[in-house]
Amino acid sequence: MKEILMPIFTLNIDSRNKALDLLQAGQLVALPTETVYGLAADSFCGDAIAQIFAIKGRPHFNPLIAHISGFDMAAEHAHICDLSQKLMEKFWPGPLTIVLPSRKDSLIHPLVRAGLDTIALRQPKGVVADLAEQLDRPIAAPSANRSGFLSPTTAQAVQDDLGASLPLILDGGRCSIGVESTIVQIIEKQVILLRPGGVTVEEIEDILNINVQQKASHAIIAPGMMESHYAPNALVKMMAQQVQSDEVLLAFGSQRIAGAEQAVTVLNLSEQGDLLEASVNLFDYLHQLDQDYPGLTIVVEPIPMQGLGLAINDRLCRAAAPRP
Ligand code: TXA
Ligand code: MG
Repeated sequence: MKEILMPIFTLNIDSRNKALDLLQAGQLVALPTETVYGLAADSFCGDAIAQIFAIKGRPHFNPLIAHISGFDMAAEHAHICDLSQKLMEKFWPGPLTIVLPSRKDSLIHPLVRAGLDTIALRQPKGVVADLAEQLDRPIAAPSANRSGFLSPTTAQAVQDDLGASLPLILDGGRCSIGVESTIVQIIEKQVILLRPGGVTVEEIEDILNINVQQKASHAIIAPGMMESHYAPNALVKMMAQQVQSDEVLLAFGSQRIAGAEQAVTVLNLSEQGDLLEASVNLFDYLHQLDQDYPGLTIVVEPIPMQGLGLAINDRLCRAAAPRP
C-alpha cells in the first residue's frame, strides 16, 4: 500500500530544527506566523524562490515579503528612514510590513522583489524570526495558499490547499490575528497604506502623529495588488441587508439581518462584535462555508470600517470582486 505522507508536525525544538535543515537545503516549508501561515524559503536561494512561485501559481511580477529577525538584519538589506525606524521600534515583532529602498549589495534574490528596487520587510512574532536568526538571512514567505485563494490560518488549511507539495508544515496552532500584515511605504515623509492588516491605521497615526494616506485609488504600486483575491469558490455578497433561503450567512455581532432564520446556515465571526475575534475567524469560516456548502452564495453582514475592520472589509471586498 502506498504510504500517505502527513507533513504536519507540532511545533517543538525537533520540528523547528527539521524546518531549519530543509530551509538550509533550499527546500520550502510552511510556517506559522501571528497573521497567517507562510510558505517559507531561504531568500538568497533563487531555486527555492522560484519554487514558491511555481507551487502557488503566483505571477512573477508579484513580489514577496522578506521576514527578518530584527533591526540589524533589516538594515543589511534596506535603507531605513527615521519614520520607518519609529514604526519598527513600535510594531516589530508584529503584523507590520514596511516597503523600503533595497540596498544594492543585498544578497536577497531579485525574484523576491520581482525586480523592483524596493523590498518589503517584516519581523514577525515567533518561529519565523527565530529561523531567520538561525539561518542568518531573511526568509521569504508569501501566505501558504494557492495564488488568489484564501489564506490559511491553521496547519490543516495549508495541508488542504498545498499539502501534497510540501515536506513539512509546522503546526503552531491557530494564528492569533488571522489577517495578513499591514503593508506601508514611506514616500517623501508620507506614510502610504498599501494593504490594511493586523496593525491598524489608527495605531500608526497615533505613533507618528501624521495621517496615513490611502494608496491612490486603484493605482497599483505593487503589481500584485490585484482586485480579485482571497476568493472562495462561492460568490460573496458584502454589506448585505437581507439573506435568502438558498444562501449561507456570515454574521457579525448580536443583531441579525432580515431573513437570517431561513439561511441554510449561519456562522458568526464574533457574537460580541469583537473585531480581533472576527479577524481570527475570517478565513477559517470562509473556508468552512466553501467546503461544507459548495456553490451556495455567502452573504456577509456589515462590519464596521474601523480598526481591524478595515482589513476584514478589504479581504471580503476582494473575495466579492468579479473573478478574472
Ligand atoms: O502577514 C503577512 O504579511 C503574510 C505572512 C506570511 O507574513 N504574508 C503575506 O504575503 O501576506 P503575500 O505574499 O501573500 O502578500 C505580500 C504582499 C503582496 O501583495 C505583494 O504585492 C506585496 O506584499 N509586496 C511585496 N513586496 C513589495 C514591494 N517591494 N512593494 C510593494 N508591495 C510589495
Ligand atoms: Mg497572500
